[in-house]
Amino acid sequence: MIKCFCFFIVVLQSLIFVSGFKCEFEKSTVLEHQYICRTLPASSEIIETHLLEKTDNDVNNVVFNGTVHAKSHFAASDFQFNERFPNLSSIYVYGVSTIDENAFQKYEHLDEIWITDTDIEDLPEKLFSSCTKLTAILITDNKIKTLPENIFVNNQELTYLRLDNNQINYLPPNIFKSLINLEMLFLEENNLQTLHPALFESLGKLTSINLYSNKITDLPKNIFSSLENKKQIYLGDNQLTTIHSDSFGNIERKTEIRFNNNKIIAIDEKLIDDTDISMIDMTNNICSQELIEIRIQIKEKLRKCFDNYKPREVLKLFWTHSKIIMD
Ligand SMILES: *[C@@H]1O[C@H](CO)[C@@H](O)[C@H](O)[C@H]1NC(C)=O
Ligand SMILES: *[C@@H]1O[C@H](CO)[C@@H](O)[C@H](O)[C@H]1NC(C)=O
Repeated sequence: MIKCFCFFIVVLQSLIFVSGFKCEFEKSTVLEHQYICRTLPASSEIIETHLLEKTDNDVNNVVFNGTVHAKSHFAASDFQFNERFPNLSSIYVYGVSTIDENAFQKYEHLDEIWITDTDIEDLPEKLFSSCTKLTAILITDNKIKTLPENIFVNNQELTYLRLDNNQINYLPPNIFKSLINLEMLFLEENNLQTLHPALFESLGKLTSINLYSNKITDLPKNIFSSLENKKQIYLGDNQLTTIHSDSFGNIERKTEIRFNNNKIIAIDEKLIDDTDISMIDMTNNICSQELIEIRIQIKEKLRKCFDNYKPREVLKLFWTHSKIIMD
């Protein structure tokens, strides 16, 4: 008799567990062929119905909105999306304030994680460490100030990383070290003032980098030198005053550089002589106000900027060298 009773409890528990959330199913409007479960609390009055000819196996994306669940903390153990949807490729998390270190631990096959529109200020170091197949991470519109140095250490497959629209004021020097396949990096709308000289050193495959709308005053020597296939560098809406060619290294392919809305008074002429820059946006600067889209016009239109140019201060260089030696 007692045995039977226990069995009953176990069955009941697993029923509750399986029905821990409900889905509102929909086709993605953004990504073709993607089929989404927008999670709802189990108590919701909505009756689940798949779209025509679709099943749980077709679900690619799960959207978790903390506001809808009245939950400010996201922990995967509450939901077990992977047990229900064998073909899950991405998870979107919105509207929470904290996220569990193990939140994505069981999702080794995920392609994409989105953490957006949240009040999150910090992310745990191990958050993505089991998700070694990720190709895209989007951490946008949150309140993040900095990230742990090893947060992406196991994400070598990553090609797309968005960290824009946060409050990032510091990035540890090795944070992107493992991201040898990264092609696009979005850091716009943050509070970055300085960039560590080695920050982008491992990003040999990066073609596009966006640093628009930060507070950057100076670009260190060689900061973009290892980006071998650079095509777009966006530096608009910062506090740059002098552009040194040694920040950029070789530019062999057609590259667009946007410096609009800075306070630029001087540019090293070598930046143009030694490179294949196809477009420079100087709108709203001091020595030039122009968007120059024709390569042969660049030299003539930036004459005033070139004339103002002085190389990096010798004293500063000496100090940097002695610091490196001391280190
Ligand atoms: C989803 O997964 C099932 C079982 O793993 C598999 O048989 C099916 O082909 C997959 N469907 C899609 C659309 O990938
Ligand atoms: C999350 O849910 C709230 C409340 O229903 C809604 O206002 C908000 O737009 C939702 N956010 C997203 C990104 O779906």
